[in-house]
Amino acid sequence: MHRVTNLRLKPIRTSDTYVVRHPVLRNGLPIESCVFDRDDDSNTLHLGAYMGEKLVGVLTLLPNKANVQLRGMAVLHEMQKKGIGYQLILEAENRIKNMRISLLWLNARLLAVPFYERFGYQKQGEMFNLYHGGNHYKMTKKLCV
Ligand SMILES: CC(C)(COP(=O)(O)OP(=O)(O)OC[C@H]1O[C@@H](n2cnc3c(N)ncnc32)[C@H](O)[C@@H]1OP(=O)(O)O)[C@@H](O)C(=O)NCCC(=O)NCCS
Repeated sequence: MHRVTNLRLKPIRTSDTYVVRHPVLRNGLPIESCVFDRDDDSNTLHLGAYMGEKLVGVLTLLPNKANVQLRGMAVLHEMQKKGIGYQLILEAENRIKNMRISLLWLNARLLAVPFYERFGYQKQGEMFNLYHGGNHYKMTKKLCV
Protein backbone atom coordinates (compact mmCIF):
# COMPACT_ATOMS: atom_id res chain seq x y z
CA MET A 1 0.00 0.00 0.00
CA HIS A 2 1.26 3.48 -0.84
CA ARG A 3 1.58 5.49 2.38
CA VAL A 4 1.31 9.24 2.52
CA THR A 5 4.26 10.71 4.38
CA ASN A 6 3.98 14.46 3.81
CA LEU A 7 0.77 14.95 5.74
CA ARG A 8 0.17 18.01 7.94
CA LEU A 9 -2.32 17.61 10.78
CA LYS A 10 -3.83 20.67 12.41
CA PRO A 11 -6.98 22.08 14.02
CA ILE A 12 -9.48 23.45 11.51
CA ARG A 13 -12.75 25.40 11.58
CA THR A 14 -16.14 23.69 11.52
CA SER A 15 -16.90 24.94 8.01
CA ASP A 16 -13.59 23.55 6.72
CA THR A 17 -14.70 20.02 7.56
CA TYR A 18 -17.54 20.14 5.02
CA VAL A 19 -15.36 19.59 1.94
CA VAL A 20 -14.58 16.13 3.27
CA ARG A 21 -17.71 15.39 5.32
CA HIS A 22 -19.98 16.16 2.39
CA PRO A 23 -18.71 13.74 -0.30
CA VAL A 24 -17.73 11.00 2.14
CA LEU A 25 -20.36 11.04 4.90
CA ARG A 26 -23.31 12.95 3.40
CA ASN A 27 -22.96 12.19 -0.30
CA GLY A 28 -25.90 13.52 -2.36
CA LEU A 29 -27.49 15.32 0.58
CA PRO A 30 -27.76 19.07 1.11
CA ILE A 31 -24.66 20.72 2.55
CA GLU A 32 -26.69 21.52 5.70
CA SER A 33 -26.60 17.80 6.50
CA CYS A 34 -22.90 18.27 7.29
CA VAL A 35 -23.72 20.34 10.37
CA PHE A 36 -23.36 18.25 13.53
CA ASP A 37 -24.58 18.95 17.07
CA ARG A 38 -21.93 20.64 19.21
CA ASP A 39 -19.79 21.47 16.17
CA ASP A 40 -19.26 25.00 17.43
CA ASP A 41 -18.99 24.33 21.17
CA SER A 42 -15.96 26.02 22.67
CA ASN A 43 -14.24 22.75 23.59
CA THR A 44 -14.97 20.93 20.31
CA LEU A 45 -11.87 20.20 18.26
CA HIS A 46 -11.86 19.57 14.51
CA LEU A 47 -8.68 18.07 13.11
CA GLY A 48 -7.73 18.23 9.45
CA ALA A 49 -5.13 16.32 7.44
CA TYR A 50 -3.56 18.34 4.62
CA MET A 51 -1.53 17.28 1.64
CA GLY A 52 -0.08 20.56 0.47
CA GLU A 53 -3.02 22.96 0.48
CA LYS A 54 -5.61 20.23 0.02
CA LEU A 55 -7.66 19.02 2.96
CA VAL A 56 -7.95 15.24 2.55
CA GLY A 57 -9.16 13.97 5.92
CA VAL A 58 -11.10 15.21 8.95
CA LEU A 59 -12.34 14.15 12.35
CA THR A 60 -14.06 15.87 15.24
CA LEU A 61 -13.49 15.45 18.98
CA LEU A 62 -16.31 16.22 21.39
CA PRO A 63 -14.93 16.27 24.95
CA ASN A 64 -17.25 15.40 27.83
CA LYS A 65 -16.33 15.34 31.55
CA ALA A 66 -14.90 11.81 31.61
CA ASN A 67 -14.69 10.82 27.95
CA VAL A 68 -14.32 12.14 24.44
CA GLN A 69 -16.57 11.27 21.51
CA LEU A 70 -14.96 10.99 18.11
CA ARG A 71 -17.26 11.98 15.22
CA GLY A 72 -17.13 12.74 11.53
CA MET A 73 -14.06 10.67 10.73
CA ALA A 74 -13.62 10.76 6.95
CA VAL A 75 -10.93 10.60 4.28
CA LEU A 76 -11.60 11.61 0.66
CA HIS A 77 -12.41 8.49 -1.36
CA GLU A 78 -9.41 8.76 -3.66
CA MET A 79 -7.11 9.16 -0.66
CA GLN A 80 -8.34 6.24 1.43
CA LYS A 81 -6.12 3.28 2.38
CA LYS A 82 -2.97 5.36 2.35
CA GLY A 83 -2.57 5.66 6.11
CA ILE A 84 -4.28 9.05 6.47
CA GLY A 85 -7.02 7.78 8.77
CA TYR A 86 -4.38 6.13 10.90
CA GLN A 87 -2.41 9.36 11.28
CA LEU A 88 -5.58 11.28 12.15
CA ILE A 89 -6.53 8.75 14.84
CA LEU A 90 -3.04 8.86 16.30
CA GLU A 91 -3.06 12.66 16.48
CA ALA A 92 -6.54 12.60 18.05
CA GLU A 93 -5.49 10.08 20.70
CA ASN A 94 -2.39 12.12 21.59
CA ARG A 95 -4.48 15.24 22.01
CA ILE A 96 -6.99 13.39 24.20
CA LYS A 97 -4.17 12.06 26.39
CA ASN A 98 -3.00 15.66 26.80
CA MET A 99 -6.49 16.50 28.06
CA ARG A 100 -5.92 13.78 30.71
CA ILE A 101 -8.98 11.92 29.49
CA SER A 102 -8.63 8.17 29.09
CA LEU A 103 -11.88 7.05 27.47
CA LEU A 104 -12.56 7.56 23.78
CA TRP A 105 -15.76 6.38 22.13
CA LEU A 106 -17.53 6.60 18.81
CA ASN A 107 -20.39 5.19 16.80
CA ALA A 108 -18.70 3.27 13.99
CA ARG A 109 -20.30 2.58 10.65
CA LEU A 110 -20.34 -1.17 10.09
CA LEU A 111 -17.85 -0.90 7.21
CA ALA A 112 -15.40 1.04 9.36
CA VAL A 113 -15.49 -1.37 12.34
CA PRO A 114 -12.42 -3.38 11.16
CA PHE A 115 -10.50 -0.12 10.74
CA TYR A 116 -11.11 0.88 14.36
CA GLU A 117 -10.53 -2.67 15.66
CA ARG A 118 -7.12 -2.54 14.10
CA PHE A 119 -6.25 0.31 16.42
CA GLY A 120 -7.56 -1.28 19.62
CA TYR A 121 -11.18 -0.08 19.64
CA GLN A 122 -13.70 -2.59 20.95
CA LYS A 123 -17.33 -3.04 20.01
CA GLN A 124 -19.83 -2.46 22.82
CA GLY A 125 -23.33 -3.90 22.82
CA GLU A 126 -25.58 -4.65 19.89
CA MET A 127 -25.54 -3.20 16.43
CA PHE A 128 -27.96 -0.28 15.95
CA ASN A 129 -29.22 1.81 13.09
CA LEU A 130 -28.63 5.53 12.58
CA TYR A 131 -30.35 7.71 10.00
CA HIS A 132 -27.01 8.58 8.37
CA GLY A 133 -24.70 5.68 7.61
CA GLY A 134 -27.03 2.79 8.47
CA ASN A 135 -25.80 0.09 10.85
CA HIS A 136 -23.37 1.12 13.58
CA TYR A 137 -21.61 -0.26 16.63
CA LYS A 138 -20.62 1.78 19.62
CA MET A 139 -16.86 1.32 20.07
CA THR A 140 -14.55 2.37 22.88
CA LYS A 141 -10.84 2.56 23.61
CA LYS A 142 -9.07 3.11 26.92
CA LEU A 143 -6.02 5.31 26.58
CA CYS A 144 -3.08 5.26 28.99
CA VAL A 145 -2.84 8.78 30.40
C1 LIG B 1 -12.60 4.63 7.65
C2 LIG B 1 -11.62 5.65 7.08
C3 LIG B 1 -11.72 6.94 7.87
C4 LIG B 1 -10.22 5.06 7.19
O1 LIG B 1 -9.28 6.00 6.69
P1 LIG B 1 -8.10 5.52 5.71
O2 LIG B 1 -7.21 6.68 5.50
O3 LIG B 1 -8.70 4.88 4.51
O4 LIG B 1 -7.41 4.40 6.62
P2 LIG B 1 -5.87 4.00 6.64
O5 LIG B 1 -5.35 3.98 5.27
O6 LIG B 1 -5.20 4.85 7.65
O7 LIG B 1 -6.01 2.53 7.18
C5 LIG B 1 -5.22 2.02 8.18
C6 LIG B 1 -5.34 0.55 8.16
O8 LIG B 1 -6.70 0.16 8.29
C7 LIG B 1 -7.07 -0.58 7.12
N1 LIG B 1 -8.40 -0.18 6.77
C8 LIG B 1 -8.83 1.03 6.36
N2 LIG B 1 -10.16 1.00 6.15
C9 LIG B 1 -10.57 -0.26 6.44
C10 LIG B 1 -11.82 -0.94 6.42
N3 LIG B 1 -12.96 -0.34 6.05
N4 LIG B 1 -11.85 -2.24 6.78
C11 LIG B 1 -10.72 -2.87 7.16
N5 LIG B 1 -9.51 -2.30 7.20
C12 LIG B 1 -9.44 -1.01 6.84
C13 LIG B 1 -6.12 -0.20 6.06
O9 LIG B 1 -6.00 -1.22 5.09
C14 LIG B 1 -4.86 -0.05 6.85
O10 LIG B 1 -4.32 -1.30 7.12
P3 LIG B 1 -2.78 -1.57 6.85
O11 LIG B 1 -2.06 -0.64 7.77
O12 LIG B 1 -2.58 -3.00 7.17
O13 LIG B 1 -2.57 -1.27 5.42
C15 LIG B 1 -11.88 5.94 5.58
O14 LIG B 1 -11.76 4.77 4.84
C16 LIG B 1 -13.22 6.60 5.30
O15 LIG B 1 -13.33 7.82 5.27
N6 LIG B 1 -14.26 5.77 5.06
C17 LIG B 1 -15.58 6.26 4.70
C18 LIG B 1 -16.23 7.05 5.81
C19 LIG B 1 -16.34 6.25 7.07
O16 LIG B 1 -16.77 5.13 7.09
N7 LIG B 1 -15.94 6.91 8.17
C20 LIG B 1 -16.01 6.32 9.47
C21 LIG B 1 -17.32 6.66 10.05
S1 LIG B 1 -17.51 5.87 11.65
